[in-house]
Order: sequence, then structure tokens, then C-alpha cells
Amino acid sequence: MPIEVPAPDAALIAEQVAYYRARAGEYDEWWFRAGRYDRGPSLNAAWFADVEIVETALFAFLDAVRPQRVLELACGTGLFTRHLAPRVPQVTAIDASPEVIACNRARVNCQNVDYVIADLFEWKPPARFDLVFMSFWLSHVPLARFESFWSVVRQALAPGGHAYVIDSALDPTSTARDHPTPEADSGIVTRKLNDGRQFRVVKLFHEPGTLNRRLAAIGFDSAIERTPRYFIHGKVSQ
Ligand SMILES: C[S@@+](CC[C@H](N)C(=O)[O-])C[C@H]1O[C@@H](n2cnc3c(N)ncnc32)[C@H](O)[C@@H]1O
Repeated sequence: MPIEVPAPDAALIAEQVAYYRARAGEYDEWWFRAGRYDRGPSLNAAWFADVEIVETALFAFLDAVRPQRVLELACGTGLFTRHLAPRVPQVTAIDASPEVIACNRARVNCQNVDYVIADLFEWKPPARFDLVFMSFWLSHVPLARFESFWSVVRQALAPGGHAYVIDSALDPTSTARDHPTPEADSGIVTRKLNDGRQFRVVKLFHEPGTLNRRLAAIGFDSAIERTPRYFIHGKVSQ
């Protein structure tokens, strides 16, 4: 009988899941710049201006492409599920954390969302989708798993379907005030909860040019760009 050898980053992936499970109730503070994420009026205004850019671009993309079946990877507490669900006929929203899924259900409260609790590094797409959407997920995929992750995205896409990526650009003020300043290339960061507990998570700050080239090398045609300060976003086509 073959012996199963755990992947070298298995412990890190498990710690990342544990972090988001424990963080579920305080997760949204990051997006709404509350508590430890409040950076003062001027930086908060820059953040919300960038939020408006990514949301407006996503809505324009949805209006233009009109996807019927949408797969949302690592849906979290529903900060984007709440935008997708009213605009498309069907959403399948996946996350490893039952705690964030519970927040998502309560926030979105739409009949057209099917929730799946699964580890995305183990999960196989059971169907094809017109859109595979991921916000603030790609940065948590270790570089060693980049290609295998995108082959799962490819398997999940219907002919002519698109993926859409929103994620973090490298900016020292994007994270909590008491988190260490992120570095471009470390790949692993330490994150704290409000109660002081600490976890290691994967965090890669993809720069648009490099990401577009990396995707082109595995056969995708992407148009990822950066907002003035905080985010990267854009469409990825087959
Ligand atoms: C930064 S949050 C992004 C959530 C949401 N997409 C958003 O934009 O707010 C990352 C999410 O990835 C989920 N996650 C972490 N590791 C995972 C894994 N191995 N499989 C599935 N989901 C995972 C976490 O539970 C968390 O909800």
C-alpha cells in the first residue's frame, strides 16, 4: 500500500485555514477599515477610492459578459458574494471555513447561492462555470502550487468562460497597524487576531506585469492591472 507523504507546505496551509476560521467574526474590519485596520481619514479615503474602482470594474465586466454560472473560490464572509449573487443567476461559493460561510449566508441571504465547504487544494470541480471569481485568494496560493491551482481553474471553466481576480497590491498601509510591514517576496506573513493570537499565512503580492506573464506562460490571456494604491484586478481568459 503506498504511503501518503504530506506536501511540504501542508502545515502552513492548515495554519492558514485555522487563521481564517478563528478570524471570521472580525474579518470585515479589514475591508471597512475598522479597529486595527483604521489608518486615519486620508489613507482610509484612498482605500475606499480603490475599493470603488475594483467594484465598478467588476460590475462593468459582469454587465458585459453576463455569466450564467459563477464559481466563487474562497468566498469568505461574502464581501463579493453580496455583489455577485444579485447580478447572476447562480453562484457556487466555496471556502474551507464553516465560520466564514455562516457569515456569508447571513449577509447575502440569496437563494441562488450554493455553499460548499472544501479545501481548495483538494477540491475537484464537479461542473463547468462561465466565471471563476476569486478575491483576495490568489495571494494565498503558494507559488509552488500556482500552476496546479490554475489547472483546476481551467477544469472549472466552460468553453469561452473567464476567471476574474481581485487581490492585494503591496502597500505598507493595507494591513493592520500591528502587523509587520509586508515584504514583496517573503511569501509567508504573520497575522494577528484582535486577541493577540498569531498565525502564519501564505501571502504573495503579485505585481500585474509579472502575474500577466506567469499566466501567459501557462496558456492564459490576462489583463490584470493595479489601482492607484491597494489592489490588483482584472480578467483572465483561456
Ligand atoms: C483573504 S480571505 C478572502 C475572502 C473573500 N474572498 C473576500 O474577498 O473577502 C481568504 C479566504 O480563503 C479561505 N481559505 C484559506 N485557505 C483555504 C483553503 N485551503 N481552501 C479553501 N479556502 C481557504 C479562508 O477561509 C478565507 O475565507
